[in-house]
Amino acid sequence: QTADSLFIINGFAQQFFADQLFNTEEGQDIGLAYFKERGFREEIIRKFQLGYSPERRDAFTKEALSKQYTAELLVKTGLVANRNDQLMDNYRGRVIFPIHNHSGKVLGFGARILKKNDRAPKYINSPENEIYLKSRILYGSYFARTAIDKADECLLVEGYTDVISLHQAGIENVVASGGTSLTPDQLRLVKKYTNNLTIVYDGDNAGIKAALRGLDLALEEGLNVKLVLIPDGEDPDSYVNKVGASKFTQFVNENKKDFILFQLEVALKDAGGDSIKKADVVNKMAETISKINKAEDFTKQQDYIKQTAEILKIEETGLHSLVNKFIRD
Ligand code: UTP
Ligand code: MN
Ligand code: MN
Ligand code: MN
Ligand code: MN
Repeated sequence: QTADSLFIINGFAQQFFADQLFNTEEGQDIGLAYFKERGFREEIIRKFQLGYSPERRDAFTKEALSKQYTAELLVKTGLVANRNDQLMDNYRGRVIFPIHNHSGKVLGFGARILKKNDRAPKYINSPENEIYLKSRILYGSYFARTAIDKADECLLVEGYTDVISLHQAGIENVVASGGTSLTPDQLRLVKKYTNNLTIVYDGDNAGIKAALRGLDLALEEGLNVKLVLIPDGEDPDSYVNKVGASKFTQFVNENKKDFILFQLEVALKDAGGDSIKKADVVNKMAETISKINKAEDFTKQQDYIKQTAEILKIEETGLHSLVNKFIRD
């Protein structure tokens, strides 16, 4: 009941923001100009149903109240704020990215500030409510599902604009996590479409550590996980706009690393020459390898034991029994 109402309000809001973007002077001069400046073409703006929220304090609130939506529900969507019993818009002077569920209904929004500013957050996202559950959403899944199925691979990026720019470049098998650790629900969502997950993050980034935290879960779900690091302060959005689609794809294919071995590489670097820390690395790797879903892929586990033992210069049999210990626990 509440969920249905929230979907209806979000649908109304999406249309309101799109209308503001295309059909008002403020929207065109500020919002549309911003998107064009970033290289988004009109077709992709319409496909992703992007919008603009005016700077006025209650532009959306007024429209919504005139449609008889209740204050309580409007506040629940996060579109409207209640400050001392004054209702006002929560997103003002921002460009709007609707977040869709797998069937294309709007669950919530990300609202981006136009110019960087130390006091305000870059993106304001919908608060959690009956329909917007961050841990269950992958941005772009509605637009990506057919392409993921066809490629038998899902690219995972951090942000809204990464998804959109890659789509525009014809790379459509891509979803975004919002830069947080992957959750079991998100991984199960990927698994519905493919076994092959490729994480495409910027190299200099906390996002990688967040992604690494999701690795064991991904293995338990039976996913094969690869990683590509985008170079030199770029992200997938800026990089594809810089080098173009075919160079981007070439870069991804040539620089895909196995994520388990990448974890080993990072852990070894962190350990330096310290032998106690190296013992921790062995332990961690055994635990990770133990998570590989054996029912799905038995030889894969044997393979990783072999490769990891080689890199760590330890006995394969020792690592093997350590892995088995984790499996029994
Ligand atoms: P980034 O800081 O990499 O932003 O955060 P971006 O996607 O490259 O955006 P542009 O190109 O500057 O416009 C990655 C993702 O993390 C979430 C958003 O989902 C964003 O797309 N994020 C980031 C937030 O939710 N809030 C923030 O304040 C910043
Ligand atoms: Mn991204
Ligand atoms: Mn980033
Ligand atoms: Mn970016
Ligand atoms: Mn980014």
